[in-house]
Amino acid sequence: MTRDFLIKRIAEAARKKSVSVSSLSESEVGDIGVLLKDLRLELFGISPDQLKNLVNSVEEDVTRIELFESKEISIIAFGVKPGRAIPLHNHPYMYGFMKHVMGSGNVQSYTFDSKDDAYNIIDDRIFYAGDLVHVIKRPVTTIGRATVDKVFNFDPKIDNFHTVVASENEPVGFIDVLIPPYDGNVRKLSFWRELLQSDERVLEPSLAECRTLEQIGIPENFTRLHMGRAAAIKRLEDLNITRNNQTTKVNQNY
Ligand SMILES: [Fe+2]
Repeated sequence: MTRDFLIKRIAEAARKKSVSVSSLSESEVGDIGVLLKDLRLELFGISPDQLKNLVNSVEEDVTRIELFESKEISIIAFGVKPGRAIPLHNHPYMYGFMKHVMGSGNVQSYTFDSKDDAYNIIDDRIFYAGDLVHVIKRPVTTIGRATVDKVFNFDPKIDNFHTVVASENEPVGFIDVLIPPYDGNVRKLSFWRELLQSDERVLEPSLAECRTLEQIGIPENFTRLHMGRAAAIKRLEDLNITRNNQTTKVNQNY
């Protein structure tokens, strides 16, 4: 399947739902999940090894490469440096598919607590800094060689809050498909932190796994590098030139 045909089919599956309040059926999510098996970094001219080299060559915690965007979907490659993280965040009103493409680390998500009516209704609510939500903390998923090509997915209510931590010794990378894309209005990236269970603001838990999250601004010390696909490919070419020059110098020493 060519890249353009694959993207067209994913967009067609995404188009079946309303863009304002997302509602993909289980089978539509399944269809997109199947299509994602064919979605590879190489289709965009970047290999997983190149993503790894790029992530290792920059200072920022997270490298984000925009691969494709239309009004239905956006496709983004992400890499996280060893020992660093994409802090806990959510994608309001959006579906997301995160395909593991390289490296190791772990993923943790949180899902809205359906027993808590007050915080289960998100369709008419925009959250602001300081707002609290009642969620269920999911078990951590360890990612590594065995999970390459695994697709994690979330919807507006289930697993929408998540954090990705790279292992100490190697970066971790994903292709993210977001449906619909950010709009900078209701659909915008928001960061959160988990309150300590001793915090007096913790909402009444209904299950042992219940946690309270507080919306915060962009976490201090968290750094991101954004670039388009062409800029990423240019950087990779520059890295190659630098590396080849270094190899030449080493060889000259012998
Ligand atoms: Fe995310």
